[in-house]
Amino acid sequence: MNEPVAYHPNKNSISVEQKDQLLSYLNDKLEIDFSQYSESSVRRRISKILMELKFSDVEEYIKYLDQQPNPREVFIEKFTVNVTEMFRDPFFYSCFGRLIQQLASEKDHIKIWSAGCSSGEEILSLAILLKENNLLHKASILGTDLSAAILDLAKSKTYKHRHIANYEESYKEAGGKFSLEKYYSQDGENVIFHDDLYHSISFMENDLMTTPPASDFDIIICRNVLIYFNPQLQNSILGKFCTCLNDGGHLILGSKESIIFFEDRNAFVEIEPESSIYKKVK
Ligand SMILES: C[S@@+](CC[C@H](N)C(=O)[O-])C[C@H]1O[C@@H](n2cnc3c(N)ncnc32)[C@H](O)[C@@H]1O
Repeated sequence: MNEPVAYHPNKNSISVEQKDQLLSYLNDKLEIDFSQYSESSVRRRISKILMELKFSDVEEYIKYLDQQPNPREVFIEKFTVNVTEMFRDPFFYSCFGRLIQQLASEKDHIKIWSAGCSSGEEILSLAILLKENNLLHKASILGTDLSAAILDLAKSKTYKHRHIANYEESYKEAGGKFSLEKYYSQDGENVIFHDDLYHSISFMENDLMTTPPASDFDIIICRNVLIYFNPQLQNSILGKFCTCLNDGGHLILGSKESIIFFEDRNAFVEIEPESSIYKKVK
């Protein structure tokens, strides 16, 4: 009997050949290039999708995608890891609070890009801290993500009430001044955040592997995204961030991410090592 090449639940990963077959299909037919995502995370994610959909191999999955009206979005929605929360890593948010106070003393307007913003919890947290520092009216925040479906959730301003107790704790730890209740209305099992938090926020679909959505940013925040990319792709995206940042602008990565793979890393100095906050110096 031939060795099965299909998804093997015990190994928790598909074979390299199966992965390559799917990546070629994605590239050729759907024009999405995931070849520079980290090998282990790609194999794990695809395995998970096959298991969930009860497909025994990648060929069946490709046939399934071919039958979808929007296979690109169907794939992206399943493949991307969208885990996020409000005030995720409160220590970072307390540093962010200090950073914006300092920037506001130097600038009339603060232009922020949240790249890979997922369903919007990160942007909402930034907006609340800006508001509590009386700076929201002086800021604009652009949220971008690869997934249109996840951006629709962000635009809905709506979150599950059952998550709020956790968020409330992190908000307090981050230096929040009131209670999150001040910022939302409850609607059954959901909460809807108030429109005034969103006046300075816009959302746009953007693939970090393509052209950046704008330039002249004072802050680029891209947390828990680079971790899924291989070193070459991290280098290329960090190069784009560097170009899009104003001189003296700040780049903020996730706590497990850094600029180590960026060949021009001398363009930055790390000002807050525990929160991966960097300042562009040239
Ligand atoms: C784990 S979430 C991080 C969310 C948020 N930044 C945080 O730290 O809570 C990663 C996000 O990156 C997005 N993403 C993955 N690849 C991307 C790409 N090539 N371009 C833009 N966004 C991407 C995913 O869709 C997902 O929403």
